[in-house]
Amino acid sequence: MNDEDIVCYCLGVSVKDIKDAIASGCQNFAQVQEKTGAGTVCGACNDEVEALVAQLLNQK
Ligand code: FES
Repeated sequence: MNDEDIVCYCLGVSVKDIKDAIASGCQNFAQVQEKTGAGTVCGACNDEVEALVAQLLNQK
């Protein structure tokens, strides 16, 4: 997955945006969601974003 890849199409949130949110202190999916808005419109990306957040947090 590339940094430029979009994970939430409703808001145009990219992988990098998710990484930045985690780098700035988000510790779980809910906090990333609050920070980026990912998954807060149609919800279709929720599973993917949640999996990505879990994966990134595990890498820390
Ligand atoms: S694609 Fe993320 S809320 Fe719709």
